[in-house]
Amino acid sequence: MSKLVFGNQKMYMNRESVIDFINNLKTLNNLENVVVFPSYLYLTDYSGVVNFGSQDVSNNENGAYTGEVSASQIKSTGAKYSLVGHSERRSYHKEDNNDFLLKINNLIKEDLIPVFCIGENETEYDNKETKKVLFDQITSVYNNLSINDIPKIIIAYEPVWAIGTGKTPNNEEISEVVSYIKELVNDRYNTSNIKVLYGGSVNNKNVDSLNEMDIVDGYLIGGSSSKIDEFKYIIERCL
Ligand code: PGA
Repeated sequence: MSKLVFGNQKMYMNRESVIDFINNLKTLNNLENVVVFPSYLYLTDYSGVVNFGSQDVSNNENGAYTGEVSASQIKSTGAKYSLVGHSERRSYHKEDNNDFLLKINNLIKEDLIPVFCIGENETEYDNKETKKVLFDQITSVYNNLSINDIPKIIIAYEPVWAIGTGKTPNNEEISEVVSYIKELVNDRYNTSNIKVLYGGSVNNKNVDSLNEMDIVDGYLIGGSSSKIDEFKYIIERCL
């Protein structure tokens, strides 16, 4: 059992804490399954230590877009991945399916791996609309992508109500949703073996229980990915 461990460090750390974090992370021998998503500012600090990626990317390729960071600029740092469609981008920055389509295409053009985040909110969960919501989130972007590019994308299933709340669906619910996503993408877009991560309040206390699910390929971890002791524990349990 080996799981991918992706750490979304959001806007949590500053230079001093990043340097400490990296020095501590380096003491682990095997970081093969780990990808860290720091602030843009610290991408290059991770070079040679562990695989890393950005938390977002511009939907423009290049030009006069103050404050934006392009896929080719991200690529030039040595990054291999980028998140797209995180629920915080969807809700605070009003990003929509058209943005995600442009971002995914820009990343793929640079050979960067998009990690496409999807998930239902609490009301949708309570109304048992999860699969319908995920169907819409996936198909409205994937229907407009080149069929050859779909297998290049990793999906992160993150229920919005589980992010940063300490709440998670139970294993049965997560397994059902992850297998639904895999079947949907594999059947509809003629792929096989797409990878699906679970995200939302994954931490050192629940990782062993989450690891009981074979169908989940790994985790997208927020809060616990910037606390080095918790993150190291999770990495070691996921080797
Ligand atoms: P969390 O965040 O682990 O703090 O819930 C997950 C995420 O937002 O990717």
